[in-house]
Parts: sequence; structure tokens; C-alpha cells
Amino acid sequence: MRQAAEPGVINLGAGVPGLDALPFEALRRAAEAAFEEEGAALFSYQHPSGDPRLRALLGERLATRGVRGIGPDNLVTTTGCTQALHAILSVLIKPGDVVACEAPAYYGMLEILADAGARALPLPIRGGEGLDLDAAEAAFARWKPTCLVICTSLSNPTGATLPVPARERLVALCRQHGVRMVEDDIYSELLDAGAPPPCRAFDDGSVVSYVTSFSKTVSPGLRIGFCIPGTPEIEDALAALKCRQDIHSPVLTEAILRRFLAAGLFDPHLQRLRERNRRRRALALESIRGSFPAGSEVHAPEGGYMLWVRLPEQVEIRSVVARAKEEKVAFASGTGFYAVAEGGARPLPHVRLNCARGTEEELKRGVEILGKVVSTLAQA
Ligand SMILES: Cc1ncc(COP(=O)(O)O)c(C=O)c1O
Repeated sequence: MRQAAEPGVINLGAGVPGLDALPFEALRRAAEAAFEEEGAALFSYQHPSGDPRLRALLGERLATRGVRGIGPDNLVTTTGCTQALHAILSVLIKPGDVVACEAPAYYGMLEILADAGARALPLPIRGGEGLDLDAAEAAFARWKPTCLVICTSLSNPTGATLPVPARERLVALCRQHGVRMVEDDIYSELLDAGAPPPCRAFDDGSVVSYVTSFSKTVSPGLRIGFCIPGTPEIEDALAALKCRQDIHSPVLTEAILRRFLAAGLFDPHLQRLRERNRRRRALALESIRGSFPAGSEVHAPEGGYMLWVRLPEQVEIRSVVARAKEEKVAFASGTGFYAVAEGGARPLPHVRLNCARGTEEELKRGVEILGKVVSTLAQA
């Protein structure tokens, strides 16, 4: 992220949507209406679990995806998905607990696990279909993890999406083995075909705790996420923790998002975003196939803007980072997405490319420069 701020750098790194893809005008109008109609109330304290009308809308939206019975009292708004993950994991785990996760998985989540003193149990994934459920079942029986953390749609970094029947089976496996699931659903609305039922749709809250945010769809800077903790006990513990941490999330930003959602602007915006992402993914995939050396591999995900590219085994990822930096191209190195034990096997070299930022011309040029760098190193 530091390098990406340098002038002239083509940024294929940090996983954020492009600034020009955000619904800035609609948010401006929502903010103006909030100022006009809600006035001073926007600058007061509010309920610690967040704007009640926003929470009601969030529950209603989830009902359309098969998650029934979520009212304002069953969810807590948070500062992005990060706080939701941090808070729920703080409630559910204690130092030394084993926590299963995808390998590779979102590095921010792995850092939260490390902060909490958890021992990460990496589980293999099966290409575009995500978690290998047979391997997960065997690992649950052997290692008895407290929790499983999983990003079920367009997982970061792999772009894998767990098929709907597998979601139901995974919930059943977690139930059977006493493993609490933390489902991170942050990318689901970016699927080209629309958001599928999350794992939480196959549960009543006794197995799944659910987290997400609007950072990848509406605005990362609004910092609005939420958590559906699950049981009444976990709800109480999470709400109390959120209150201790920062009393509640900002009233103004929640009012803006509430008005944006209530005006029915989210779905048309998502349609435009999906179309934009689809075009950019196609462009980047074509450039990857044309410029990366033999032995590289990339799956086409079913949506979103991230591509996870495996490089030929002999390529040293640190050299790719250094050379790409000289050529002014930033990307996310795959190494940080693995929880690797000291002395453990080194993961295969990967790069994660974000297609959402800059112009389409810059995207194409950045991918081609990177392809050239990797090709040179593969021959060295
Ligand atoms: C899988 C996943 N979860 C959570 C987050 C954090 O999201 P937020 O910006 O809403 O805190 C990210 C951000 O990249 C992510 O990729």
C-alpha cells in the first residue's frame, strides 16, 4: 500500500474497488437529504448496536437470500468487516485455540488470529470451488478446531466460491464436529449471477456467525460492516464488546448508507459494478494468458475484480516484487496469504492482481509488464 501511493505506479495491489466505480453522486444526495431531514440527530450518540432502521434494512436484504428471522436486535453494525471479524473472533476464541481457515486466506484475518493467540489450521481448497470438504471433515475430527473462518463467495485471494450444496454440507459438518463457523460474506454481492444463499441460510445461528461490509461494493471509506453473532449469548457478548471498543459506529455514515439502500439504489449500482468488473477481468485474463510464461495458471472467478495467478515453481516471488517495483507496478505477493509454520513447506509463488483500479489501458500495461518480469525470472 505504501508503494502504491508513489506517483506513476500502476496499482494492481490492495483489494479495493476503483474510486470511479463508487456511487459518489448517489451518496452525496443521500448525505444532503440526511442533513436536511435529520439535522442535529446525526451528531448525537445512537444505539450501541447501530442505526436501528439500517439494521432492519440489512435483515430484510438477507431475507431475500434465504436468511430468515434477522431483526435489528440480531445484528450489530461495525467499523468495516475488520471490526466485525476482530470482535467475533475475540468473543469466540481464547489463546491457544485451533482455528481452521482456508489456505490461502485473507491476510488481515490471519493477523487477527495471530493477535488473538490462535493456532491457525490451514485447510486445502479445491480450485474455483473453494474449501475441500473431505479434507475439512478429516481435519475437524483430528484437530478439533474451535472455529472455522471462511470467505464463502469470491474468497480472498483465490476468488473461489463454495457451491450452494457444499454450503449446506459444511454447516452440517461444523454442527456434527462442534466447530463454530465464522462466515465472511464480504464479496458475495460482486458475483456476476448475484449473491447466493450464505451458509447462514442453512443455520439458525447455533453454528454460524456472519460478518460482512459494504467496503467492496459501496465504499471502503464509509467503514460500515456488520455482524450477526448467532446465539443470544454470543449476541450479548459481541454487543457489549463493540460498546466497550467505541460505543457505536458513526451516525452520519450509517444514515447515508441507510438512505442509499432505502432508495433502492444498491441493486442498480451492483449491476453496473458487476459489468465493469466482468469487462476488466476479461481484459486482464487475456493479458495474463498472452504475457505470463508457460507454467503459470489462473482461474476465471465467477465475479469480483481479483485474479490469483500461480507462477512457475522456480520463480522467486521476492525477485518479482523487487523487479516489478523498479518497473513501477504494485501487486499483492501471495506469500502473506498463507499461515505457514516455521520450517513448514514453502507455498508455491502466487500474485494477486486487482483489476478494478486505474484505467483499462493501465491495467493491460501493468499486467503485461508483470508478465515480462515473471517470464525473465522464469528463464533465469
Ligand atoms: C475477506 C475479507 N474480509 C474482510 C476484509 C476487511 O474489510 P473492511 O475494509 O470492510 O474492514 C477484507 C478486505 O480486503 C477482505 O478481503
